[in-house]
Amino acid sequence: MILLTGSTGFIGGHVLRALSEKNLQVRCLSRKPMTSKNPNISYVTGDVLDYDSLVSATAGVDTVYYFIHMMGKQKEQERFDVLDRLAINNMVRACRTNGVRRIIHLTGMSNPDERLSRHLASRREVEEIIRNSGIDYTIFRASVIIGRGGGAFEILDTAVRKFPIIPVLDWENIQVQPIYIGDVVRYLIECLDKNETLNKGYDIGCSDVFTYRELMQQYAQELGLKRFFIKVPGSWRRLSALILGKLAPVDANVVYWLIESLGNNMVCEPGDLKKIFGFEPIPFRESIRKIIKKD
Ligand SMILES: NC(=O)c1ccc[n+]([C@@H]2O[C@H](COP(=O)([O-])OP(=O)(O)OC[C@H]3O[C@@H](n4cnc5c(N)ncnc54)[C@H](OP(=O)(O)O)[C@@H]3O)[C@@H](O)[C@H]2O)c1
Repeated sequence: MILLTGSTGFIGGHVLRALSEKNLQVRCLSRKPMTSKNPNISYVTGDVLDYDSLVSATAGVDTVYYFIHMMGKQKEQERFDVLDRLAINNMVRACRTNGVRRIIHLTGMSNPDERLSRHLASRREVEEIIRNSGIDYTIFRASVIIGRGGGAFEILDTAVRKFPIIPVLDWENIQVQPIYIGDVVRYLIECLDKNETLNKGYDIGCSDVFTYRELMQQYAQELGLKRFFIKVPGSWRRLSALILGKLAPVDANVVYWLIESLGNNMVCEPGDLKKIFGFEPIPFRESIRKIIKKD
């Protein structure tokens, strides 16, 4: 039995569809009561901040997919890192209680040599707690995931579509290595059958490394939009978050914390993923074409 957390979210929703196609037995943790017509899919009501609910949710479970973050929609936004720590500690304890064998997790990519944003430092801490849990794990780290409903992608999409003149702030030369959602899901699903991925962490990204400015330029070109970039000194994070938080279909708190992370490079460490998985993620522009086709 697999326990899928975050199934109402961007990543968890995609993974649920992929797991359904494989006819695996999946139990989804959800804060609201939910039902499924698919006999392989069941729902358990619970909250990662409620340890007892996780003990019930993990009973009889072999593998947990952990796709939770606490940014946004919480009453105490300034404490999202505290809540994320509490949540993963609850999950690890519940997994130990019920003898769960493996945790598969997706997190944000970061360079340990840089001073990390609050969001990325918190992501790194959650990753460390899983690594030190004594439970087998597989962890993937991604930067911007290209797919409708993804927070970072929707902010990029809004900035490029809505602003003919785009202010270039202090993130101008920060580098990022995006990846298409379909490829992220392939890694997350296919690792289930690959024992060599046990107790490993991988950076995942396509072969393109762009600065944020180049990322927006490439996206605008693919959309057939002419965009002008003007350099503006400073970070203007609160103002950017205020404006994009109103325009993008993303929780305003999440927009703020993601914008703060624009100061950190997100480029993959070289690894042996191609050898293990037998595929390479598609290039950025191809992933954009796939999204535009579906829109
Ligand atoms: N999106 C990206 O571009 C991206 C890039 C790199 C890494 N990641 C990583 O992928 C993971 C999932 O992100 P996402 O983009 O899928 O986020 P998302 O769309 O915001 O989904 C978050 C999920 O967490 C659930 N959740 C929040 N608080 C909860 C609680 N107290 N108890 C139980 N469930 C709770 C939400 O359920 P409700 O419906 O109940 O709110 C929702 O299903 C995160 O670890 C993130 O760091 C994402």
